[in-house]
Amino acid sequence: MRTKSDINIKFCARIRGVRQETNGMIETRFTREFNVRHPIVQGGMQWVGRAELVAPVADAGALGFLTALTQPTPEALVKEIARCRELTDQEFGVNLTILPAISPPPYAEYRAAIIESGIRTVETAGFSPAEHMPAFKAAGIKVIHKCTSVRHAVKAESLGVDAVSIDGFECAGHPGEDDVPGLVLIAAAARRVSVPIVASGGIADARGLIAALALGADAVNMGTRFLCTVEAPVHENVKRKIVEANERDTTLIFRTLHNTARVATNTVSREVVEILRAGGEFDDVRDLVAGVRGREVYETGDMERGLWTVGQSQALIDDIPTVAELVARIVAEAEDLITTRLSPLVSAEGR
Ligand SMILES: Cc1cc2nc3c(=O)[nH]c(=O)nc-3n(C[C@H](O)[C@H](O)[C@H](O)COP(=O)(O)O)c2cc1C
Repeated sequence: MRTKSDINIKFCARIRGVRQETNGMIETRFTREFNVRHPIVQGGMQWVGRAELVAPVADAGALGFLTALTQPTPEALVKEIARCRELTDQEFGVNLTILPAISPPPYAEYRAAIIESGIRTVETAGFSPAEHMPAFKAAGIKVIHKCTSVRHAVKAESLGVDAVSIDGFECAGHPGEDDVPGLVLIAAAARRVSVPIVASGGIADARGLIAALALGADAVNMGTRFLCTVEAPVHENVKRKIVEANERDTTLIFRTLHNTARVATNTVSREVVEILRAGGEFDDVRDLVAGVRGREVYETGDMERGLWTVGQSQALIDDIPTVAELVARIVAEAEDLITTRLSPLVSAEGR
């Protein structure tokens, strides 16, 4: 039987600005400037971005991010950073997601916890990182701002971020309201942005990495793929569901509220869409969308308990590897794609 990963994509592109070495390394501006072995990022994931996952990502030579707001308090984040350091001697970062909230978390205190813990790299996401930039820069921290549009990437660059991570419409979580998929978004951003670009959304394997590099990105960010690894601290049912699922098994919620999120299709996400489509307001779905119910999905494996975040890239996922296996496989297959599939496409006259 053909598995989802048997489907190959033919590339007809030259990879520019990428030095590819023979010992399983692809070196880009991103790997040099962020001092990581591989151009692969594991972005922030609410309830998932904990030390158990981030430490093996760091050990594998990729850039992993603990998710600040998964920790209930800034003090708990300090402890989580220390716990992660006990599990790895490699560098890792912290994601600070800035979202609209009726009673926002104490962002300044989380920021202080990150700085005081000596973290060298931060992934900001959601709203503009403007208010956090002076403190991070004063502490010598590199900031990667994750956004969903070219205009926000340009804005982030003008604020002094060190890289932008750009989520295409395929992504898990918040794809924004423009509905522009990565194939256009990354290439369009590469025309306007000078700092390194991390392509995010819809990437789960070497084909995605190579495509992203061809589009002008310097690295890739993956959420869904890392969620489906041995070390991801979520119930086995979540991982099995991802392996079974295809590209049509996600649902966009909160469209009418202009705060779109891509989540798994289940009874809860269907009900939320129906209520809002019928003219409902946030208050009408507040209980259904409660974060604690989503957290219970990951903890108990009851896949209908609440909303859980996943992207269209689940269509490309067939297995539950360890993080080390995953990263090594992506790098090896990327090297193979360049040498055995792409290079031969260039005719002798074209060289
Ligand atoms: C379970 C899960 C939770 C996520 N939570 C966050 C979050 O709290 N903050 C954030 O910036 N991004 C979050 N994301 C988005 C990822 O960091 C990443 O941008 C996205 O997953 C990329 O798309 P992909 O899933 O197709 O790889 C989450 C993604 C997943 C799968």
